[in-house]
Amino acid sequence: TKENIALFTIFGGTGDLAKRKLYPSLFRLFRKGNLKKHFAIIGTARRDWTDEYYREIVKETLVDLDPTEKELAEFCGHFYYQAHNVTDTEHYDTLKTLADKLDEDYQLQGNRIFYLAMAPQFFGTITSHLASQEIVTETGFNRLIIEKPFGNDFYSAEKLNKEIREAFNEEQIYRIDHYLGKEMVQNISAIRFGNTIFEALWNKNYIDNVQITFAESIGVEERGGYYEKSGALKDMIQNHVLQVVSLLAMDEPSVFSQEAILAEKVKALNAIRIYTEEEARQNFVRGQYREGQLDSQKFISYKEEHNVHEDSQIETFVAGKFHIDNFRWEGVPFYVRTGKRLTEKGTRISIVFKPVPVNVFREQDQKAPDAETIQSNVLTIYIQPTEGFSLSLNGKEVGQGFNLHPVKLDFRHSSETMGNSPEAYEKLILDCLNGDGTNFTHWDEVAQSWRIVDVIRRAWDKDSDPIPTYPSATMGPKCAFDLLKNDGFDWIWKPDEWYRDNH
Ligand code: BG6
Repeated sequence: TKENIALFTIFGGTGDLAKRKLYPSLFRLFRKGNLKKHFAIIGTARRDWTDEYYREIVKETLVDLDPTEKELAEFCGHFYYQAHNVTDTEHYDTLKTLADKLDEDYQLQGNRIFYLAMAPQFFGTITSHLASQEIVTETGFNRLIIEKPFGNDFYSAEKLNKEIREAFNEEQIYRIDHYLGKEMVQNISAIRFGNTIFEALWNKNYIDNVQITFAESIGVEERGGYYEKSGALKDMIQNHVLQVVSLLAMDEPSVFSQEAILAEKVKALNAIRIYTEEEARQNFVRGQYREGQLDSQKFISYKEEHNVHEDSQIETFVAGKFHIDNFRWEGVPFYVRTGKRLTEKGTRISIVFKPVPVNVFREQDQKAPDAETIQSNVLTIYIQPTEGFSLSLNGKEVGQGFNLHPVKLDFRHSSETMGNSPEAYEKLILDCLNGDGTNFTHWDEVAQSWRIVDVIRRAWDKDSDPIPTYPSATMGPKCAFDLLKNDGFDWIWKPDEWYRDNH
């Protein structure tokens, strides 16, 4: 294993994200030897803490990983705490002194990663101080990791981007979309470009429609305050969902490099039709969860959640249809849906192939008097919680006659190559250490994604009808089903039915 050498400075070092994701990920990298001796971590936040106290906090975040005492002592010894007010110039001087000292003590070669795990309103302030007060180095690499949300619409995102770009150039900026670190999201490219049989058919001649579901069973939890300003459209569609759409829709890169992939993804995003407000209303629907029940478990409505307005019109569910106006996809709808408090947690993609043009078995197959009853082939990519992919085909029932029935090639549980996936964050941090920005979002993608969703938001903001609701623990409001029905399609994944049949 190659040892990586860097100083991490984590802004928001006592926050939820740092505790839940960053420290466990860094520890796993340490365990695997990706981080060994030559690394150090400065955690900053407003509170006045000692290094010892900070190290205790870090330790607590690692219990699930069953660390030994020796591992803990060694790993946590690399952590340092610095009380910090992001607008206070003097504090950056102290930070610089500490950073330079650790650089020398641990021989870090001036390699620095600045991780902004905090509210985006301070991003610009922090990056300008980092540059002007020379906390970025001349000798090593300087990289900036930022968390979403990246802006609140196109204009705020552009403003934020301008601020950051005064201090860091695009190659130094690593915008996290944690879905890009997921094993099966990365596998989309392997399935497409590693198999002749799919890529040859990956276009409007053979694909009827594409369906993408990002379902969550949890509600809004403790994040009512944030969610009231965001809603599902900005929380999920603008980033994760559109990233997956672009990976599915893009043309093949000439080589699997960051630049080539980015160019293809941007091209695909640019081909997604930007709706008028009227079109946005026709192609996108929303909903909000109300009370519901699953077995004996009862759920409260969104409006009753903590920090949510009692008349809130914010959507906890979105379903919609993207048109991609290019030679490959003209006329193939990309249906997407995402929501909270749905029947079960699951992210999956269904590529629905066109039905056979004619049913030659119509005389022999008593069950299939016309072509419509031959089921379409579907390639399903299971992103989470189970990982894998399956292909549904048609075979013949054993015995006399020619009754067709669907069979499935399923690589979920059987595949030997799919072990326990590393955490998305672990992979992304390692990518950043290696200077590989492939699985991060770049400005052109962020900008175009905002242009695509902004008009949908605007259309809804002008809508005076109250937002449709759906009972908790279902797959969303009726309009989400009608969206496909009106086009003669149906959602392939129906966990409500699945649930009824299996319990
Ligand atoms: C985050 C959203 O980006 O993704 C959350 O802000 C959402 O609202 C989460 O719950 C889903 O991520 P995952 O990895 O749990 O599917």
